[in-house]
Amino acid sequence: MAILKVAQLGHPVLRKKAEPVAPEQIASAELQAFIADMIETNDEYNGAGLAAPQVHRSLQIIVVGSSRRAVEGGDEEDSIPLITLINPKLSDFSAEMEEDWEGCLSVGDLWGRVRRARAATVTGLDRDGKPATIKAEGFLARVFQHEIDHLHGKVFLDRMSDFSSLSFRREFQRFHELYE
Ligand code: NI
Repeated sequence: MAILKVAQLGHPVLRKKAEPVAPEQIASAELQAFIADMIETNDEYNGAGLAAPQVHRSLQIIVVGSSRRAVEGGDEEDSIPLITLINPKLSDFSAEMEEDWEGCLSVGDLWGRVRRARAATVTGLDRDGKPATIKAEGFLARVFQHEIDHLHGKVFLDRMSDFSSLSFRREFQRFHELYE
């Protein structure tokens, strides 16, 4: 296992469309080790999720949640289960939208408010290559939309309708985090 280097905004890998993974590749030791490294990297940096392009591999793989937080428990944001999805696709977006704060391990210190569908369905393959369907809402739906955006070369800044909320971490924590 290893902690991987996280690509920062401006690196072209973050703006490329990621390649699908061939299902027969999923069981390979190399891919399984890479997924384990993604989970370890996401945990190390306290991410809510991580997409493979963020660690310089242009592949359609995301991990959401955290193995560490799942054990420790916590509030809503901390309690999303650890999920790995390969070739994930979103569908059945709710008409209802919700705006909330997002940050990103590839966008340094910036936080901003992003409008997303409140609920959506995600389909893909799990770590064993088995089909998986997850009906997500709230924070989990947000994290899926954020991570799957990375597979299409998008970051959360692209989804902001205006930048008036954009804040550095320190100011976000000082003025916004506890009050909204
Ligand atoms: Ni991100």
